[in-house]
Amino acid sequence: MAVLAFVLIFAIATATATATASPAYTSTTDPKELAAAAAAARALVNASSWGVVSSINYLEKSSPFGNALSYSDGGSGTPYFYLTLLDMATANFSRADARSSLSLSEYALGTCGTLDPQEPTCVKVTLSGVLKKLDQESEEGKFANATLFERHPRFKFLPPVAKFQLYKLEIKSVFVLNGYGEPKFPSVKMYRKIKLVE
Ligand SMILES: *[C@@H]1O[C@H](CO)[C@@H](O)[C@H](O)[C@H]1NC(C)=O
Ligand SMILES: *[C@@H]1O[C@H](CO)[C@@H](O)[C@H](O)[C@H]1NC(C)=O
Ligand SMILES: *[C@@H]1O[C@H](CO)[C@@H](O)[C@H](O)[C@H]1NC(C)=O
Repeated sequence: MAVLAFVLIFAIATATATATASPAYTSTTDPKELAAAAAAARALVNASSWGVVSSINYLEKSSPFGNALSYSDGGSGTPYFYLTLLDMATANFSRADARSSLSLSEYALGTCGTLDPQEPTCVKVTLSGVLKKLDQESEEGKFANATLFERHPRFKFLPPVAKFQLYKLEIKSVFVLNGYGEPKFPSVKMYRKIKLVE
């Protein structure tokens, strides 16, 4: 009886340890599935014009904060932003932690039909990385400015006093949910290589 109890306790302890030690899912390594996920991500990033930028920049020791912001990628895969230091995402940008992520849902495009926003077949993408200020005179700065003002024509009415500046999300990881099963993590390299189809 004592032996049985011990075995049982050991089994429970092992199961608990396994549950806490390993993540709830593992990403596929199948190149075709990863390429399809990367393509879905690039298409959603290009088709959307806004998303939620989460950062831990605002107010020291505060909770992670999600902020709905306009962006444009100009077809490049890199999200560009036009932000003021009055914005929550950038308030602590230069002094603290610039790690940020951009989350998008296909639901916002109106193309998920009767699906619930949370259903995996309604594509969801989170790009994680670092929010970086761009030099507006650099090639990338000029590209970012052009695509932002093209995609968001009303930016030209923003008050100069708020000192809007160009930023980009330098992507370090790509999370994609584009079907049933586990989320997928295509590499940034794979994500970048995707050619958008018109
Ligand atoms: C972040 O910004 C807020 C508001 O400006 C300020 O009170 C706080 O001290 C800043 N935190 C850091 C780490 O700079
Ligand atoms: C999508 O890419 C095209 C260029 O291929 C670009 O003109 C358009 O602005 C992009 N859309 C967004 C939201 O960046
Ligand atoms: C960004 O583009 C707008 C619209 O074309 C233009 O008025 C503005 O001068 C540009 N800003 C920079 C820094 O190039």
